[in-house]
Parts: sequence; structure tokens; C-alpha cells
Amino acid sequence: MEPKKITTADLQKKKKAGEKIAMLTAYDYSLASFIDQSGIDVVLVGDSLGMVVLGYDSTVPVTMADMLHHCRAVRRGVRTALLVGDMPFMSYNISREEAIRNAGRFIKEAGCEAVKLEGGREVAETVKAVVEAGIPVMAHIGLTPQTVSKLGGFRVQGRDAETARRLLDSALALEEAGAFGVVMECLPDKLAGLITRSLKMPTIGIGAGPECDGQVLVTNDLLGLYEKFQPKFVKQYVRLHPIIRQALTDYIREVREGVFPGPEHGFAMEAKELERLTGRSKRKKK
Ligand code: KIV
Repeated sequence: MEPKKITTADLQKKKKAGEKIAMLTAYDYSLASFIDQSGIDVVLVGDSLGMVVLGYDSTVPVTMADMLHHCRAVRRGVRTALLVGDMPFMSYNISREEAIRNAGRFIKEAGCEAVKLEGGREVAETVKAVVEAGIPVMAHIGLTPQTVSKLGGFRVQGRDAETARRLLDSALALEEAGAFGVVMECLPDKLAGLITRSLKMPTIGIGAGPECDGQVLVTNDLLGLYEKFQPKFVKQYVRLHPIIRQALTDYIREVREGVFPGPEHGFAMEAKELERLTGRSKRKKK
């Protein structure tokens, strides 16, 4: 029997029941299929795509075209999890109309079921407009990578009274605006716990401690595929990078030494059969 499709309502139910929510990123069909079949609740096509797949130094250059292209590929691999598309920088910041139009493209053109966008109280009206247009929105507060230079770099947010209060206020405003959940990135654990208990919508932490309703990681970090930069909050469950390098150097050596392909990797033909088909013999004439 096909497992039941996960919806935003299921995530709310999980929070109520005290069941943790597991979320991961995906950017292509193959990994998305693995992740979905492993029983994940939410798959996010994150704009972290810009760094771990496209090789940029930040998420800022990622375009709508990049996101839609990868969301379509992931869509083909995800059957059960809730599929969320990450709105790239400047796709929702210029006007509410443009935010609705771009959010709609994630749903209509890429088959996503929800979108995520970064920001606190200042984006609450945008969230409201997108939700009222019929598109579920996941919010993202704390360390928001699209505006990291404004935050003074990649650092924990909410360590002083003013920013801690601002984060709580933002979370409440985003819930009021109709968000179905919120990612909280790089927050002190106790502050994340307080925000989690103050909200009806689920909180998904990344570097925000165990008191959140769920957790998200960038899959490439978890698998040890992206080693350029390793945030403290990442747990590497496997280190695939050296395993892949070994496989690639083995392949190159075997090609050069004539070891690959072996007879088992080809389609054998008897010399006589070749002669019959072509009228030519494999043997050299004297
Ligand atoms: O872009 C992304 O992958 C994200 C997650 C880290 C939440 O926003």
C-alpha cells in the first residue's frame, strides 16, 4: 500500500501529539527519491542549492529559474513527503504581487505544495498575502542566509534581550499572518524552546537545539558531500566525500590500465559471428 501523503495539517497534528518532525533538503531526482523512501516528513528544495550544488559562495545569486528547475526534478522523486520550495532572494521582496506570482510558479510550474521565505515581522504582510492567495507558507527566522551581511555574518541570533524579543515577536507575527510552520536557524536552545512553546505552528530547528518541534539539515552536509564549510550544528552521519573520491580514482586507474571494462560489462560476439555479419575476419591477412 502507498504510504499516506503528508500535508501541512499532519505537521500541526504531530506538534500537538508531541511527535518530532524530520525535514531534509533535496536538489535532484535521485537523492529526493532516497530521502522520500526513507520516510522523511518534509523535503525542502532549499536555496542552499546555490552553495552545495551550483558552487556559489552564498545563496544570493540563486534565481527563480534555478529553483524551479531543481524543484521539478525533486518533484519527480517525492511521493509521500510534503514538498516545499524555497523562494530565492528578491523573488518576494519587491512587492506583494510579485511574491504571490513567484510563489504561484513554485506550485503551478514545479509541483511544490508550499513555499518557504526568509524574514521576521517585516515579511509578515507578504506571508499573509501569499497565504490568502491559497499557497501554504513556511517562515524562516534567526540566521537568514539571504540577508546574512545585514546580520553581521554567520552567527547565532537572539543572544541579547532586544533580538531575543524581536525573534519571539516575529514568530508570533508570522503565525498570525498564516504561516503553517517556521524554520529557526542558529538560535540559543532555550530561546528556541520558548518560541516553540509560544506557537501553535510547528518550529523546525537548524542549530536551534532539541526543544524545537522538528529538525532540518542540508542533506549534503549530513552525508559529508559538502566539505567547504561545516557549521557547528551539522552532524555528519556518513563521510561520502572520500568514498566517492576513491571510487573515481579507481575508475580512472582501471580505464588507463585496461582493467575496465571487463568481459562482464560488455556484449560478447564470437569471431565467426562477426565474420558472418561483416564478411571480414578479425585475423590479420598475411
Ligand atoms: O536553503 C536551505 O537549505 C534552508 C535550510 C537550511 C532550512 O533554508
